[in-house]
Amino acid sequence: MADKLLSRYEKLKSEIHSHNHRYHVLDAPIISDLEYDHLLNELKQIEAEHPDWITPDSPTQRAGAKLADRFEKVRHPAPILSLANAFGADDARAWFDRVKKLDDRVEMAKFVVEPKIDGLSVVLHYREGLFVHGATRGDGEVGEDITSNLRTIRAIPLRIPVQTTDDRPKTEKPSSVLRPPSYLVVRGEAFIPIKEFEELNRKLEEAGEKTYLNPRNTAAGSLRQLDPQLTASRPLTLLVYQIVHSEGGKAPASQWELLEYLKALGFPVADAAKRFDDLESAIAYTETWSDGRDKLPYEADGMVIKIDDLNLAADLGFVGKDPRGAIAFKFPAREVTTTLNDIGVAVGRTGVLTPYAMLEPVEIGGVVVERATLHNFDFIAEKDIRVGDRVLIKRAGEVIPYVIGPVLDARTGNEKPYKPPTKCPACGQAVEHFEGEVAWYCVNAACPAQLLRNVEHFVSRGAMDIEGLGIKIVEKLIYSNKVRDIADIYKLTKEDILEAVTKKDRKTKSEPPGKIADNLLVSITKSKTQPLSRLITALGIHGVGEVMAKDLAQNFIDLDELGKIKVENLMQIQGIGPNIAESIVDWFSFPFNKQVLKKLKSAGVWPEGKSKTEKKDGTLTGFTFVVTGMLPTLSREGVKEFIENNGGKVIDSVSKKTSYLVLGENPGSKLDKAQSLGVKVIDEDGLRKLAGG
Ligand code: IVH
Repeated sequence: MADKLLSRYEKLKSEIHSHNHRYHVLDAPIISDLEYDHLLNELKQIEAEHPDWITPDSPTQRAGAKLADRFEKVRHPAPILSLANAFGADDARAWFDRVKKLDDRVEMAKFVVEPKIDGLSVVLHYREGLFVHGATRGDGEVGEDITSNLRTIRAIPLRIPVQTTDDRPKTEKPSSVLRPPSYLVVRGEAFIPIKEFEELNRKLEEAGEKTYLNPRNTAAGSLRQLDPQLTASRPLTLLVYQIVHSEGGKAPASQWELLEYLKALGFPVADAAKRFDDLESAIAYTETWSDGRDKLPYEADGMVIKIDDLNLAADLGFVGKDPRGAIAFKFPAREVTTTLNDIGVAVGRTGVLTPYAMLEPVEIGGVVVERATLHNFDFIAEKDIRVGDRVLIKRAGEVIPYVIGPVLDARTGNEKPYKPPTKCPACGQAVEHFEGEVAWYCVNAACPAQLLRNVEHFVSRGAMDIEGLGIKIVEKLIYSNKVRDIADIYKLTKEDILEAVTKKDRKTKSEPPGKIADNLLVSITKSKTQPLSRLITALGIHGVGEVMAKDLAQNFIDLDELGKIKVENLMQIQGIGPNIAESIVDWFSFPFNKQVLKKLKSAGVWPEGKSKTEKKDGTLTGFTFVVTGMLPTLSREGVKEFIENNGGKVIDSVSKKTSYLVLGENPGSKLDKAQSLGVKVIDEDGLRKLAGG
């Protein structure tokens, strides 16, 4: 009886390991999480009855007890080496030329290219197939024993070889089982995949906890602390790439065979690893990953190009700690640390204050970076970023460089906590905060910094489209007081412009300033005929973009009419909520803006939108409609068009003034409201009849 149970126990262990391997290494599970939990529960039950049967390689033994003090030191069986770097193809070719001179066999060498994962180098010891020790790299000779933490990583096999469960009929012979060396020491990189890292940070953020800087530091931190339970809660995984030491077993002769061999034993190896017959192909492959590094599921700082023949590689020896047989082909760096010299504050068009980092200049991926965004003041507070801190900066792809966070370990105590400004750095007026928003605003419409951004926006292509009025000229015009608001653009004379035009602003050296001024005056005059929608966009009202400006222009005759509207009435327009409605009404209430409008009007910049004559008259003229639920044939847009084409008006919410509620399937609360207000309810058919169709 006990025998039977014991064999069941052994079988369970092996099956669970296998499913684990399928899930965490092969990414090809064949059972559901529920089935897996059932197996694990059965195992736990047996272990509860027979605690003496439990072996260290049981799947239940991954997260052990907390270490009391510190990690023990472990001497590695062979030095854990580093790699020399190559920055670009020429460096890699130079490396090849150097080693070719040392050994004729190099000329004909094959290469294996592997991702150089940005994680923590770990060394795993297996005795008689059992995972017995795991260590950090340390100084290359002696590392720290982090066995208990490593055991929690499910991609690390606790026993090798891992037998892969298969779903073939049981009559088939099992595939031949590899015998592992009696003592095997492998090296790999432990890391947190990018997606899992982002997910981890998202959860932490939701829980209101501090987020982590990057996957690498998080992985290293999780492995080098004393509580395995904590390590177990981090989404760590591993890829192996080297046999450090092997006794009593097969030793692969090439890197490629080595990877295959480790894979067969149940270790995870990088899918992106590939073998090439010559260096140029290896370089070409490396370069495809340099461009496509974002396609890798983990952070990689380069690719490693290795001479495939391991005997040849060993014979080539080392330079210091770097083996000659391999080279790290580095991708351009994306993250660097530098000193945060100060925090500046930029004032945007809408008056929003944005903090930015003023950095000790530093090169990232071939570009010298002196400034980086700090997102907003909450971010600085959350990350506790202080002036004088060493900060981690990231510059990736098209994104503006940004500060990831401070390097806390580098603090000297001289760093100064940052206080957000209470006054606008450009005009000195008090700043304001709006309910529900992170940003702080300068609400002074005459603020020169805002004015600059406002004019820039006013003349931009999607707004009034005034060609030739570049930021440099605008800056000069503002500082010489020629432009104190957007309306002043229409007062500019040729002399004003000539004064502001510098040599730099000339398109070609031969273009005379007079011509530039003339062209600019023509563009300014031309812009007076822009439609109302563009003028509304150009005003830069907080929350009003091009699309909303078009909607507004369709509903109002001109800015006079729009300026008089009340919040409640604005909210009747589709897509306008209380915040935007309030922001529009606010904008028109500012005396400064009223003055600007007056000036625009007298300059002849006063387009009309919904014209009184143009308005479509039809059978539905004078009626307002609210639509709710799904109509049998008309879409939301379709019904709006139908009503408007027949002269009616569609609004968003039901009020006493609503003429009809058009009812479809699955109506919302609008139906209750309509009924309580006594608003007539019709269906699509009813609507068509009303329109006379
Ligand atoms: S080979 C002799 N291969 O990169 C073997 N290293 O300085 C030398 N790394 O600290 C290392 N992925 O932790 C090698 N596929 C890979 C690697 C890799 C990441 C790390 C390793 C080492 C650093 C090289």
